[in-house]
Amino acid sequence: EAELYTVYKGVYVPKVLHPLECLKYYEEFTFRPDDILIVTYPKSGTTWMQEIVPLIQSEGDFAPIDTIPNWDRVPWLEEHRANILNLEERPSPRIFATHFHYNMMPESYFKVKPKVLYVLRNPKDVFTSSFHYYGMASFLVNPGTVDEFLEKFLDGKIMFGSWFDHVKGWINAKEQEHIFYIFYEDMIRDLKESVGKLASFLGKSLSQEVIAKIADRCVFKNMKQNKMSNYSMVTTEFFDQQKSEFLRKGTTGDWVNTMSATQSDRFDATYKEKMKDEKFKFVWD
Ligand code: PPS
Repeated sequence: EAELYTVYKGVYVPKVLHPLECLKYYEEFTFRPDDILIVTYPKSGTTWMQEIVPLIQSEGDFAPIDTIPNWDRVPWLEEHRANILNLEERPSPRIFATHFHYNMMPESYFKVKPKVLYVLRNPKDVFTSSFHYYGMASFLVNPGTVDEFLEKFLDGKIMFGSWFDHVKGWINAKEQEHIFYIFYEDMIRDLKESVGKLASFLGKSLSQEVIAKIADRCVFKNMKQNKMSNYSMVTTEFFDQQKSEFLRKGTTGDWVNTMSATQSDRFDATYKEKMKDEKFKFVWD
């Protein structure tokens, strides 16, 4: 593990994706108040939001998602190349993604308080999606068996650390009026409604027609066809999509196909213990 990961502010980050100069760049990054920041624990809906939010900003014009790969359209601030994309020159509102925990955020975040869209997903589905992802991404440690990966997941000994810590940090963030919490499950249930809510939070008034057009373009089966977003342009050096596709299933409750009843019980017990003090209302509880 030591070979593939760096321990950064207490969590594992894959070395290939996050060279130290990029982490350093993020530490010194200056936010603007109208920046839009998509914040996620990995496998919670980042890529989906990298499609939706630019379309809200463009008011349904498909050009950004048809012509710009998602990693340039909505760059991760901690990831390789963030430091060479000239983000300082980009016009407002800039859209970024980050997997950072709340307490890992750079100083400028707390001063400037940009807008945050925090996406949550049932952690058993996050676990399942991660399990398949670790099997196909060359820059991650192989997941081993489901039992082995489960222990690592519950312990936070994987990229970006503990799901529990990530979620607890962000749901208890101080600047609540700048944060919009959105559930992957709600997006699956009614994507039009979710697009509408995101647009309102972002101060964009869109017609029902435009909202429907955006939602239709972003449903799993349509988004999966977009080569600017499905990682088909990334070489097999990074991803082996023969093993598992990046846009794999795009559903809720798929954990039943990976976890046994015993593993699910073990997960639930840890969840209950770690989340016992939280008042936040999760859609899956
Ligand atoms: S990453 O690596 O953190 O950027 O991954 P992330 O994008 O957060 O999560 C990947 C999962 O999101 C699913 N996905 C979608 N679901 C529904 N609709 C759309 N349009 C969509 N786009 C991506 C993707 O399939 C991964 O989930 P699983 O369960 O593995 O299919």
